[in-house]
Amino acid sequence: MKKRLLTGLQPSGDLHIGNYFGALKPFVDFLKTGEYETFLMVADYHALTSLKDDETLRSNTYNIVRDYLAAGVDPEEVVLFRQSDNQDHMELGWIFNCLVTVPFLMQAHSYKDKVAKGLDANAGLFTYPMLMAADIALYDTDVVPVGEDQRQHLEYTREAVTKFNLTFGEGLLKEPKEHILKSVGVVPGLDGQKMSKSYKNTIPLFAEPEEVEKAVMKIVTDSDGSFPQNVFAIHCLVKPEAELRPIYEASAGRYGDLKKQLAADLNEYFADMRARRAAISDEHVREVLAHGAVKAKQISGETLARVRQAIGISL
Ligand code: ADP
Ligand code: TRP
Repeated sequence: MKKRLLTGLQPSGDLHIGNYFGALKPFVDFLKTGEYETFLMVADYHALTSLKDDETLRSNTYNIVRDYLAAGVDPEEVVLFRQSDNQDHMELGWIFNCLVTVPFLMQAHSYKDKVAKGLDANAGLFTYPMLMAADIALYDTDVVPVGEDQRQHLEYTREAVTKFNLTFGEGLLKEPKEHILKSVGVVPGLDGQKMSKSYKNTIPLFAEPEEVEKAVMKIVTDSDGSFPQNVFAIHCLVKPEAELRPIYEASAGRYGDLKKQLAADLNEYFADMRARRAAISDEHVREVLAHGAVKAKQISGETLARVRQAIGISL
């Protein structure tokens, strides 16, 4: 039997090429090894801890599913579903909440960082790690590929699972392991800082060619004719460095031409993916999610039946 892999995606807005090369592409490449039975969950109830706008949540949900399908996730191979479509997550999340203490949850970065910034943390944010633990434990997950920032949440998951097993019976739930995905390194933004939606320095992943060109023309270069490091670094993501280096050396100072070439190469690199994405209708997204929900529920239902028996809810 194949090992199980599950990860969750926050539906949090338009992706940029930093997200693509730093997260989406390594993830899809990892899945293509075919080593795991894979679950990909849109964590919409987690998003509700910070997002309170129905239109945005809805469109972000459609968008993220389109992004993953366009990037090469095959819904026949991968169980692609929404957290909110399977109530088992809420139920096991509650059960875990009843096992861990308030001081333990107070140590979670996701909560502590908000409080440190003087922001109001809602109770959903406070118990966020236990909903995530439920997402993972319901599928007897072996491996959870995540970014470094989620490492602590996996420790919280193991703690919840361990407490459950100690309280109700050894081996009832499986302890998962994180798999920290190594990024290609940091993709620089238009201003040379890390490309990030919070710095508004991004090149959008799915945009019209003109929009990509407009963003590329804004990449900051030094006016003294020195090497255009940021343009080059981004260019190397889509073309071999050995091919680019002589062109850049022969074009010293002609930043405009190099940027035009970069925009053209980016647009060519992403053309097929963009066309695939544009062809995905809302209805298709709903069908994929409905299909995923049925498959997810089949598996989580078995785990939850075991849990309900163990805690004395099944009479
Ligand atoms: P943002 O900084 O735009 O808010 P997120 O924090 O939502 O992006 O990141 C989502 C994923 O994309 C993470 O796994 C992160 O490591 C990756 N990522 C984001 N920006 C970059 C970047 N500039 N270079 C490489 N990877 C990135
Ligand atoms: N907390 C994760 C993030 O913000 C999203 C997430 C929710 C998740 N449930 C999960 C990730 C289960 C992995 C497994 O990125």
